[in-house]
Amino acid sequence: MRHASFDALVIGSGIAGLRAALEIAQGGARVAIPTKDAPTDSSSDRAQGGLAAVLSDDDEVSLHYDDTLVAGDGLCHEGAVRVLVEEGPARALELIEWGARFDRVEGGALALAREGAHSRRRILRAQGDSTGREIVRTLVARAQRESRIVLMPRLFSADLVLAGGRCAGLLALDETSGEPLVLSAPAVVLATGGAGQVYRDTTNPPQATGDGIAMAYRAGAEVMDLEFVQFHPTALMLEKAPRFLLSEAMRGEGGRLVNAAGERFMPAIDPRGELAPRDIVTRGIVSEMRRGGAACVWLDMTGLEPAFVRARFPTIAATCAAFGLDIARDRIPVAPCAHYLMGGVKTDLWGRTSIPGVYAAGEVACTGVHGANRLASNSLLDGLVFGARAGKAVLDSGLDPVPGSLAAAPEVLAIAAAEAAETVGELRGIMWDDVGILRDGETLERAIRAILRLEQGLRPRPLERPGIETRNQLFVGRLITESALARRESRGAHFRSDYPRREAGRGRHSIIAPGAAAPDLPIIPVPRSGPADLP
Ligand code: SIN
Repeated sequence: MRHASFDALVIGSGIAGLRAALEIAQGGARVAIPTKDAPTDSSSDRAQGGLAAVLSDDDEVSLHYDDTLVAGDGLCHEGAVRVLVEEGPARALELIEWGARFDRVEGGALALAREGAHSRRRILRAQGDSTGREIVRTLVARAQRESRIVLMPRLFSADLVLAGGRCAGLLALDETSGEPLVLSAPAVVLATGGAGQVYRDTTNPPQATGDGIAMAYRAGAEVMDLEFVQFHPTALMLEKAPRFLLSEAMRGEGGRLVNAAGERFMPAIDPRGELAPRDIVTRGIVSEMRRGGAACVWLDMTGLEPAFVRARFPTIAATCAAFGLDIARDRIPVAPCAHYLMGGVKTDLWGRTSIPGVYAAGEVACTGVHGANRLASNSLLDGLVFGARAGKAVLDSGLDPVPGSLAAAPEVLAIAAAEAAETVGELRGIMWDDVGILRDGETLERAIRAILRLEQGLRPRPLERPGIETRNQLFVGRLITESALARRESRGAHFRSDYPRREAGRGRHSIIAPGAAAPDLPIIPVPRSGPADLP
């Protein structure tokens, strides 16, 4: 089997992965970035709304902190939120120094937008609604100039390789030649993004198949808070159109949500109206759809100046125009869609997981920073801040070389891919119907039985990407469902019709420790202070 060695590996080329790799390379270590498609195929690249950071005189870090905690519905790790909001401005300014072109107002100051649950205008954006693309462009360009970074496109990561209980590298599949290979390294940063593809309707790209969570859990890492799946309130809802995101910034600029009669319904649900936290707006839309027997509600931008609307949201305008809709003059049909996973591989504030040498950053990770519901536009910031921190922790770990050759390690060769397939379509329907925006004990138990049945139908196959992605999605779908069943309360994005209230007292995280066939869910209290930190 082919084999190569590096000081560190960063799996995934979204914002968290690129930022981690730059930190590692700038510190003098040689780092490879295996990524399963092109370096720009990521959720980061699709992000419209922007990057939340306190950069204006009328804003304060303490306000960003408070807004994040309120949106997180009592489950945020306060130490992680402090890190995010305090280090965020420096990470954003550094991007500008590296060439990111954020939109500016006349006179040259940064143009700052408002989104749901933010008390100030603090969202940086680029080309109106292509913020993620501009940040990825900036980071990829910088990575390409860095001689210690090797970008490895079309290299699919199959599983982590451990030796003596610690990280030793990665088993990967070269998608161009079809050959397996082993990359050895004493440190691996998982930056594989989310798992939106386990749901029938998602804003996520095809790459979001939960690979990092599945790999980490199989290797023995703890995962946390997986029941918290954020459903974005406003994705385009048209037959034959993709579930394209209509940015929250549209409501931030004055867009209204209306029913078939053209009436607003959000003000009766929450005083913040269309700018309430996402979980509240999402459930408000679902209840309005049920009340009116409709498959969607409508986003109405017609009260705003048409030229402003089209110039402010050029990508959204062009996409909707391709389906015959003028975002400035027509009401746009929208419905919620799976968008972001607040839970993930449990890490400390430096990206360290429970396996020595394995780190995680970005959507695949769970520091607890987003609590039960992520504040809009905090995810790109999370990727930058915690990506840089994971990179620093990798450097500080010493990076002792992996002893010997891993090429013949039996544990590597023993990995068998699961059956590729149709099963994914079935899984996505199960997750959408039974583990969706509203769940209850009965639907969750039914979903677990159905997923187990699909798992039992898997057969070993040669090492190939579709089979492994299928296995990963079944695995992550089951972990999400089991976590949701264990949490007998409603909080943030997790709403159980049979337990509609928030449990009394402090919020508790759900942690799944690996190893058990049916993982049990010891619930631990939310850490309030004293974050585990590097000395
Ligand atoms: C949006 O533009 O609404 C998406 C941004 C985010 O998910 O925070």
